[in-house]
Amino acid sequence: MAITLERYPKISADEIKAALDFCSGQILHVLPQFTDVFENAYSENNFYRPVENRDWTNGFWTGEIWLAYEHCGDERLKKAGEIQIHSFFERIHKKIEVDHHDMGFLYSPSCVAGYKLIGSSEGREAAIKAADQLITRYHPVGEFIQAWGPMDAPENYRLIIDCLLNLPLLYWASRETGDCRYREIAEKHIHTAVANVIREDYSTWHTFFFDMKTGSPDHGATCQGYRDGSAWARGQAWGVYGMALAYRYTGRKEYIDLFRHVTEYYLEHLPKDLVPYWDLEFTDGDDQPRDSSSASIAACGMLEMAKYLGTEEAKHYRAIANRIIKSIYDNYAVKDMNISNGLVLHSTYSNHSPYNTCNHCGVDECNLWGDYFYMEALTRMNKNWEQYW
Ligand code: GLY
Repeated sequence: MAITLERYPKISADEIKAALDFCSGQILHVLPQFTDVFENAYSENNFYRPVENRDWTNGFWTGEIWLAYEHCGDERLKKAGEIQIHSFFERIHKKIEVDHHDMGFLYSPSCVAGYKLIGSSEGREAAIKAADQLITRYHPVGEFIQAWGPMDAPENYRLIIDCLLNLPLLYWASRETGDCRYREIAEKHIHTAVANVIREDYSTWHTFFFDMKTGSPDHGATCQGYRDGSAWARGQAWGVYGMALAYRYTGRKEYIDLFRHVTEYYLEHLPKDLVPYWDLEFTDGDDQPRDSSSASIAACGMLEMAKYLGTEEAKHYRAIANRIIKSIYDNYAVKDMNISNGLVLHSTYSNHSPYNTCNHCGVDECNLWGDYFYMEALTRMNKNWEQYW
């Protein structure tokens, strides 16, 4: 679908502020319950339950707290952020559930953010240790960072598109420490990922396997999408944001063009209200759940890329991001604390399909990254934001 922008309402500056006011109010409201513990990855009947700091998603909750702190400056948020940074510090020192690639998702919006915002030295130390942990998953033969599982098994010898968001942590660590190893590994991974996860039609593979002996590309597959050859909606959105970040950090011009194509594919497969179903295979009329988190992630990617484009093109992507967030604000955002303790409804974490045996959880619910990226997009539209990524 080519988007005719005039057909879609814009979100106004007042609505953006109102949305951020509500998000900050909701976070303050639940903060007493979720300071020493975290919100679960996904809600159940639209309510999050408390969990320990063991999942790949906990950083988004701390990230929401920091975004709320940036918006309203309430000291209770700062205090909670510091308590959570301590939890991340303990987690990386004790190596609790850190044998995977999601160190960036965990430590950028929590510890890097806390270091940037309030100069937390504990946050800085924890984030550098997390970067050290992340580079242990690098395979020099295949030149990529392995996503999950033990490092010595061929069935684990793969990367996933989501990892593009884990790499800013490595660029940050190189800048902070002066050690170029982190950046060099990130760059190799980006190159390998981009060369393999983007298909000819600019849809994307969720995961991609390599030959363990030679490192040569083997085959693409999905884990959370509808079927191997389809475009998982969140994977494509990780691709949109991932290409913007790849350009930001490498300065390689070819990534701008890839951003345009991957984004175009995404936009062409959106239903009328600009919020995708959980896989881009589905559209209006299909009885399938949405993934509102995908829309917010893609909007953040467009807002990021707009910073590096010429005036007209930047305006174009900002305008699309604006319409997407307006749709989330009007139709998906929580506006009444009695119906949910989250921020955005109708996300899908992982939906079971006949082609795919992935877990079935968090379907048509709030999820932490959906809440976080909605706030990030609003913040990006509200001010000149110093990003956590
Ligand atoms: N990075 C995992 C997910 O998007 O569900």
